[in-house]
Amino acid sequence: MIGVFDSGLGGLTVLRVLIERFKAADFVYLADHAHVPYGNRPSEDIIGYTRDCVEDLFDRGAKLVLLGCNTATAVALRRLQQEWLPKSRWAGTHNVLGIVAPTVEGATQTPWAVTSPQYPQKYNTDTIGVFGTTRTVSSGVYPEEISKRCPKVIVVQQICSELAGAIEEKRPEAELEHLVRLGVSGLLDGTNGMPPHRAILGCTHFPLVEHLFRKHLPPFTRILSQPEVVSDSFEDYLARKPHYLNGNESGKLTLLTTGDPSDVSEKARVFWPDVPAFARA
Ligand code: DGL
Repeated sequence: MIGVFDSGLGGLTVLRVLIERFKAADFVYLADHAHVPYGNRPSEDIIGYTRDCVEDLFDRGAKLVLLGCNTATAVALRRLQQEWLPKSRWAGTHNVLGIVAPTVEGATQTPWAVTSPQYPQKYNTDTIGVFGTTRTVSSGVYPEEISKRCPKVIVVQQICSELAGAIEEKRPEAELEHLVRLGVSGLLDGTNGMPPHRAILGCTHFPLVEHLFRKHLPPFTRILSQPEVVSDSFEDYLARKPHYLNGNESGKLTLLTTGDPSDVSEKARVFWPDVPAFARA
């Protein structure tokens, strides 16, 4: 069984691609609606909430948990992997992964394990735009990891502090478009009006309004599909470590929330019409 975690509904963008790829695997998705949005919270809170949710998913039988959330990955993953997991009762048998590494791999066309520029990446002078929450952008993880592999690439970041919350609250399209337009023009100002060659929607909620980013970004800008690159990398990981799946899985999907299941199920239907019902975690 594979666990997928997000502060709210955004991780479903990743989950939906994963369940298509791994039809026979069991998935359990946990959304922390009691605390969503994470993006403007203090780091210690994000680490604590993420750890609690990973523990819950392990307790339910997931041996591998994917943080389907950029904020949790940027802020909490390293602490969980390096300090918490090795001392926990799951050490050696369970693992937790994030979504920043595969996104950086996709954006730089460089495997994560390669941490210095390779030909032709070292001559790459593209501009990459990153849209994210306050905490993801302030962590600096995207510019740091991209520049290790592509030092001449210019990374321009833009905080979209209210967008994930507005998507969760199912605010009207016009309001969401206003927030996206503000974010895009803020980013373009940071590039002196030059369109970025590529854009990372570095919050799993943002693909839910990708059409609005597409509308306001210059046509020249290619939007990297985070759910796709994350799923490619996850597929590769599981091919190397199949023991994280039990032999007897049957394609079962369980959706859980720490919030109100009927409210969450209703909101999820907006972008996933036949989404199964959420239950309380
Ligand atoms: N979907 C999450 C992300 O990828 C978090 C959004 C939030 O809770 O602020 O960053």
